[in-house]
Amino acid sequence: MRVLVIGSGGREHALCWAISASPALTKLWCAPGNPGTAEVAETVAIGVMDIHDLVTFAVAQRVDLVVPGPEGPLVAGISDAMGNAGIACCGPSAVAAQLEGSKTFTKELCDAAGLPTAAWERFEDAAAARAFVRRRGAPIVVKADGLAAGKGVVVAETVAEAEAAIAAFMERGSLGEAGRACVIEECLVGEEVSVFALCDGTDAIPLGAAQDHKRVGDGDTGPNTGGMGAYSPPPALTKALEEETMARIIRPALAEMARRGTPFRGILFAGLMLTDDGPKLIEFNVRFGDPECQVLMLRLRSDLLLALQAAVSGELSHFAIRWSAEPAIGVVMAAQGYPGVAVKHTRIGGVEAAAAVPGAMVFHAGTEVLDGHLVSSGGRVLTVCAKGSDLAAARAAAYAAVGRLDWPEGFCRSDIGWRAL
Ligand code: AMP
Ligand code: GLY
Repeated sequence: MRVLVIGSGGREHALCWAISASPALTKLWCAPGNPGTAEVAETVAIGVMDIHDLVTFAVAQRVDLVVPGPEGPLVAGISDAMGNAGIACCGPSAVAAQLEGSKTFTKELCDAAGLPTAAWERFEDAAAARAFVRRRGAPIVVKADGLAAGKGVVVAETVAEAEAAIAAFMERGSLGEAGRACVIEECLVGEEVSVFALCDGTDAIPLGAAQDHKRVGDGDTGPNTGGMGAYSPPPALTKALEEETMARIIRPALAEMARRGTPFRGILFAGLMLTDDGPKLIEFNVRFGDPECQVLMLRLRSDLLLALQAAVSGELSHFAIRWSAEPAIGVVMAAQGYPGVAVKHTRIGGVEAAAAVPGAMVFHAGTEVLDGHLVSSGGRVLTVCAKGSDLAAARAAAYAAVGRLDWPEGFCRSDIGWRAL
């Protein structure tokens, strides 16, 4: 199979790495890729949102399967565009990608299909939103309706904080059009986990689970990020809770999408809160998480390419995914300043030494090669991962690898995995 992975983050490096191990693979490209993907795939200089150029490339190269990493191209319709050109794409249509692209779409689907989620209301008018928040009181959650790259959610501890978010999103347009409409919802309490399912439109099979660390600082403090580290499996998600999630959240969502004539194919990522009343859906994403994907790929024992292929061809019911019993952990190395403006083009040394720690693996994200040196080029720069006989051993190996990096301008959280340890 000739395969094109789309994206340039740690997630896509992990996907390329896993796909490159498949005996079914004959050729692998990554667009636009990074120095990590370049070790296992040929780099294609086309951006993730240049859908027309990506389709032209896929047709010219007779690509058998396209695997988009990020949500942007999916919401913009890359699966439809590839499909129209006769190219298989493991991702949802633009309509089905609304499960991530629009909070309102998902909340309405939750209500229609009876999925457990936080009570909610949608507002297009800031005064009405403010009145609602005052009536309900804090804590309360204010969310921009559209895609906002992780910046569209404020978990407000006070009414004043919620009102400030309403003013910023709805009145000042701080997130552009994405925040002109907002969803305001009940604040859920519990432990958060990311649960993944591979879907072929009618069937879904579990594709692992992980726990992310969204806040930038140790002890879950500071601003939200795209994710500062992850581990898998999360002990909080028992086998019974995983089955409950498939039965009460994933499968009913799939059934409702199919009933509407817009079946969901690809990777469905349920962000859950494990509350005292059982798992509740915080949000759906229509792709792997980053950094969750990196730790899942370290534990995956099955052939990822064949699994993705089975999802695209509607043959998932024959497929079972096998996992290593060993847990994996991933520590994100970010450039100072992240999640604000990150310092760029600082030299990174020691990557090979880090990867040489037994059990360790370093995935690239915001890196580039400049004048022959590896430098940072984004906020999240590397995901330093390791597997171990138990989570403590995996964590020790991952931080040992971090310790071998020579990158003074980088930082990481020092407590990844703390909830499970
Ligand atoms: P989202 O962009 O929807 O993933 O939200 C970002 C983060 O905000 C989530 O990972 C949660 O930590 C938090 N969050 C979102 N919705 C809620 C909620 N209803 N109750 C509590 N926390 C929430
Ligand atoms: N790590 C969370 C996400 O990818 O959305």
